Amino acid sequence: MTGVGDRLTVEIEAIAHGGHCVARFDGRVIFVRHALPGEQVEVVISGLGPKGRYLQADVVNVVSPSADRVTPACQYASDCGGCDFQHVRLSRQRELKAQVLREQLVRLGGVEEISGQSLEDCIHVAAVPGDTDGLNWRTRVRYAIDSAGRVGFRRHHSHAVVPIESCALASTALTDMKVQDLQWPTTRDVIAVAANSGDRVAIPEPTHVGTPARSLPVDVAIPGLRGRGWVRELAGGREWRVAADGFWQVHPGAAEALVAYVRQILQPRPGEHLLDLYSGVGLFAGLLAPDVGPAGLIDAVEVSITACADARRNLHDVPTVRIHQAAVDTWLMSSRPSDVDIVVLDPPRGGAGRRVIESIVDVAPRAVAYVACDPAALGRDIGYARARGWQVASVRGFDLFPMTHHMEAVALLVPGAGA
Ligand SMILES: C[S@@+](CC[C@H](N)C(=O)[O-])C[C@H]1O[C@@H](n2cnc3c(N)ncnc32)[C@H](O)[C@@H]1O
Repeated sequence: MTGVGDRLTVEIEAIAHGGHCVARFDGRVIFVRHALPGEQVEVVISGLGPKGRYLQADVVNVVSPSADRVTPACQYASDCGGCDFQHVRLSRQRELKAQVLREQLVRLGGVEEISGQSLEDCIHVAAVPGDTDGLNWRTRVRYAIDSAGRVGFRRHHSHAVVPIESCALASTALTDMKVQDLQWPTTRDVIAVAANSGDRVAIPEPTHVGTPARSLPVDVAIPGLRGRGWVRELAGGREWRVAADGFWQVHPGAAEALVAYVRQILQPRPGEHLLDLYSGVGLFAGLLAPDVGPAGLIDAVEVSITACADARRNLHDVPTVRIHQAAVDTWLMSSRPSDVDIVVLDPPRGGAGRRVIESIVDVAPRAVAYVACDPAALGRDIGYARARGWQVASVRGFDLFPMTHHMEAVALLVPGAGA
């Protein structure tokens, strides 16, 4: 019986959700990291799925490489759990992400075609404008600290820490904070943020006491020790206050790219009523407010007290935005908003879920822009909407996380003829 530590030679089949490829051995599926479709590779089994139903493995030797295989830009690529696609040509990374996105829409959403077009023809994953090499884009990071106090990242599916001296994905401003150059003996994690305004914050967790935080550059804020625990981000001609441990897109081009695309597909009109669900610090509400104009109305719903406080500050000059601190499902059930025209839906990784999707369908907007960071959750939620007679009008992927398997996808959902 094949078990952890065994070494096998396998043929790699398709890419799967989660950044690994599928291979088979003795009738069992093996999910292989750091492989590419069409390759023959030697792997070492690294884990077993529940009841041994499938195996997990990592490539240790490439017998016949794919033409899309490249030398990773980062020396830690095979060890560190952060990047799964460093060994893949950048344009091929995007093709693989598009394949995964299509597969999740078919399997979980039951979507076979969109407006008469095959998914191959109409679903693609695009680069963020200006991102040419997929490196140095990370503006926020959570470093893990090992037992010797060294900075690193956790191994895939493990608590073990791989120490690093530099991260190829970190922005120059983040690297210049020098968190990775210090020893952090009493710390478990360090959150580091380098905002595009120039603000920089480091948060040692659980505490800065006994850490070398004071040795960071003087302009790096350390909450509780010096400076403040929030940063200013710039997007769409506005300044956004965001808690350093709160939510803001990590790729510097992401916020504006997503808002521009959501505007393009939703086409908000003057006087319309927009729901911004899972609204964070108010990004979509604030930047779409001019589109609905002074006669329009935006209800923004967000569960985090801190994010709502930041949103109120960020949008104090936009009277058409109302911020509701609440869980989206309970707010929709209790408020029963009426005369809603359009919805921006931007849930966390787990998706919105059946109750939220059905409540939105009951509100009967003319269109929903669904911004998703997990294509499986998007597929599931689309399935709930389709079961209520809605349809998918378009889907586009955004490569907001190059060198990793992660992606963002934006779907336009509209009521079908019978809805
Ligand atoms: C992917 S972020 C999107 C934030 C915002 N739309 C943006 O682009 O900056 C998801 C947000 O949903 C919030 N959230 C998570 N669960 C929630 C819930 N059940 N109800 C309302 N907000 C929730 C999180 O706090 C987070 O701010």
